[in-house]
Amino acid sequence: MKEQTSPRGRLVIVDDERAILDLLVSLFEDSREVVGFERGQDALADIRAHGVDVLLTDKNLPDLGGLELLDLVKRELPEAEVLLITGYASIDTAVTALQRGAFDYIVKPPKSIFDVRRKVDQAFARQAMARENRRLVGDLRSKNHELQAALDENQRVQAELVQSEKLAGIGTLAAGIAHEISSPLFGVMGLAEAIGEEEDLETIHRHAAEIVTYARSIKDIVVQLSGYSRTAEREYLANTPLDAVITDAVRLVVRTVGLDEEAVSLDIAPGLAVVGRASELQQVMVNLVKNAVEAVGDAGRALAGAVRVEAVADEGEAVVRVQDRGPGIPGDALREIFDPFFTTKPPGRGTGLGLNIVYRLVTKYRGTIHVDSVVGEGTVFTVRLPLADAAGAA
Ligand SMILES: Nc1ncnc2c1ncn2[C@@H]1O[C@H](COP(=O)(O)OP(=O)(O)OP(=O)(O)O)[C@@H](O)[C@H]1O
Ligand SMILES: [Mg+2]
Repeated sequence: MKEQTSPRGRLVIVDDERAILDLLVSLFEDSREVVGFERGQDALADIRAHGVDVLLTDKNLPDLGGLELLDLVKRELPEAEVLLITGYASIDTAVTALQRGAFDYIVKPPKSIFDVRRKVDQAFARQAMARENRRLVGDLRSKNHELQAALDENQRVQAELVQSEKLAGIGTLAAGIAHEISSPLFGVMGLAEAIGEEEDLETIHRHAAEIVTYARSIKDIVVQLSGYSRTAEREYLANTPLDAVITDAVRLVVRTVGLDEEAVSLDIAPGLAVVGRASELQQVMVNLVKNAVEAVGDAGRALAGAVRVEAVADEGEAVVRVQDRGPGIPGDALREIFDPFFTTKPPGRGTGLGLNIVYRLVTKYRGTIHVDSVVGEGTVFTVRLPLADAAGAA
C-alpha cells in the first residue's frame, strides 16, 4: 500500500447513501484531498493505489462491511485513522469498532456537521502525530546507526593503536638488547685488542677466559631480553653471590670507560647471595655504576673515590648502594629517570634505557629501587633484593 499522501492529508469517505456521501465529501473539499465511494471494494482499491490518512466509512455497506474495511486498512496501513459511521441501533458495533482500532464513530444521520468535522480533524491530527513519531524513531535509528559506526571505527583505531604500541614495544626491545650488549661487547673488544699486544702467555689466557665470560653474558642478554628463554623455575631461583656480580660489573664498566679499577671504591659484606640470574643482576649493577661514573665525569670532578658501591644485609634483604659525587638529579627529572628513553645525555652517548632496564629487572626479582639525590652534591641509588636465604631458595 502507498504510504505517502498529499500534504493536506488524504480523506476517503465510504457511504452507500449517495446524499450523505455527497454531503460529507463537500464538507471537506476545501481543507483536504477527499474522495468518496459508495462501495467498500472500490474504496479499498483506491486506498491501495493512493494511500489514506483518514478513512470515514459507513458500517453497513453492500459488498465489504465497514468493520472488514477497518481491519484491512489497519493491517495494511497501521498509521491510518478510521472513523466509523453507524446508525443508532448499532452502538454496540461502534464499541467493537473502537476495540478493533477505530479512532471514533459518528452516528448517522449526524446531529451536527461541526461534530463530524471536529472528529475528522482530530483523526488527522493524531495521524500526523503518529507519522511524526515514526519519523523521529527513524531519525533515532539512523543516529544509532551512525553512533554504532563511530563506535566500530573507534574500536578499529584502538586495535590499530594497540598494534602500533606492540611494534613500538619491539623497537624498545631491540634498543634494549643493543643497549645491554654494548658494555660486554666493549669489554670483549678491549680484551681482544690487549691480547694482540700481550706477550705474557698467562695474561693472554686470563684475558681469553674473560672474553668467554663476556661473550656468554652477551648471549644471555639476547636470549633473556628477547623473551625466547623459557627459564626453568629452578634456574630462575639460582642463588647468586653478590660480591662476584658487583666486582665483575665494576670491572666491566671501568674497563669500557678506560679507568683504573681503583677509581670505584667497593665495600661489600661477604657472603651475600640473592635469588636471580647472575647475568641479569650484573646488568643492574653495570647500568648503575656506569651512570655513576658518567655523572662524575659530566660534573668534571676527579674520578678517584668519586664512586662508591657498598652492599650489606638488612632485614632479610641485600641492600646495594651505588653512590656518586656527580651533579645530582633535579626534581623534575627524578620523576622520569626510570622511563624508557629518558636521557639528558647527548645523542650517541645515552639512549635512556639503562635505568628502565634496571627497574624492570629489580622488580622482576621482587626488589625495590630508590634514589636520593642532591643537586650539586651527588646521587645514591639504593637497590634492595631479597636475600637468598630469606627467599627460602638456599
Ligand atoms: N648517577 C646519576 N647522576 C646523575 N644523573 C643520573 C644518574 N643516573 C641517571 N641519571 C639521569 O637519568 C637519566 C637516565 O638514565 P639512564 O641510565 O636510564 O639513561 P642514560 O644513562 O641517559 O643512557 P644509557 O643508559 O642508555 O646510556 C640520565 O640521562 C641522567 O640524566
Ligand atoms: Mg645509563
